[in-house]
Amino acid sequence: MYFRNKKIKDIISRKGKEKITMLTAYDFSFASILDEAGIDIILVGDSMANVVLGMSSTKDISFKEMFNHTRAVKRAVKRALVVADMPYVSYQINKKRALYYAKKFVEEAGADAVKLEWFSHCEEITRILIKNNIAVMGHIGLTPQTADKLGGFKVQGKDSEKALILIKQADTLDKLGVFSLVIECVPSKVSRLITERVKSLTIGIGAGNSCDGQVLVLYDLLGFYKRIKPKFVREYADLSSLVSKSVRDFISDIKNGIFPSREESFSMKTGKDFPKILKI
Ligand code: KIV
Repeated sequence: MYFRNKKIKDIISRKGKEKITMLTAYDFSFASILDEAGIDIILVGDSMANVVLGMSSTKDISFKEMFNHTRAVKRAVKRALVVADMPYVSYQINKKRALYYAKKFVEEAGADAVKLEWFSHCEEITRILIKNNIAVMGHIGLTPQTADKLGGFKVQGKDSEKALILIKQADTLDKLGVFSLVIECVPSKVSRLITERVKSLTIGIGAGNSCDGQVLVLYDLLGFYKRIKPKFVREYADLSSLVSKSVRDFISDIKNGIFPSREESFSMKTGKDFPKILKI
């Protein structure tokens, strides 16, 4: 498939040569940090439903929420590729609306591509989007939007029959021309086989070390979101404790009259005509 987007062409050319890095971001401030730090792909993931909005399922997030946060991320990013995750409501409920919403993400919010999770009509929708020049990132294995149909949040493709289904899904999406494929919670052997047979870039999460790249949810990596900690998460920081300590210090400084200091306050102009009433 021919990609008009230069960033996508560049990232695909790195398959087999250099590992690709991807993280989620949902707002301007974090997206700026990730972009400046050199991340290759920023995914405005629907994991925002859980880690930012406190919803129990990613199925519940609206198009408007995903659209607004994609715009916020896009305002920050100068270099990285920005991928907008299509929320469940935008393509799995009424497939006829998928192209309309995907175009909004790309043409109005400025995303370079959209991501779709595998489901019963995934092939049909992916074909339509690609035909309309929208770059697509697929997502197979554990697909949280339809986890109820997969027996819950479990490793997928553990037996040979299920592994072959995943390989078939990967082949289908690859032939349709997706530029990339997220592989979530799958045995390392299966993701290695897929990576070796597809042209698209495989990005693993809980899928071993052989994928072309890796992704994590930013709040997991930073130790921000403590409700669940999957085995594949590596916490690079404990921001939850750091934020908590900072807030406790702030409270204590106010109670003790230490904040704000003179240096953190403003003074008035004084002079010989300074009114008496303002003198303290
Ligand atoms: O929404 C998300 O954060 C994702 C990643 C886990 C790939 O889909």
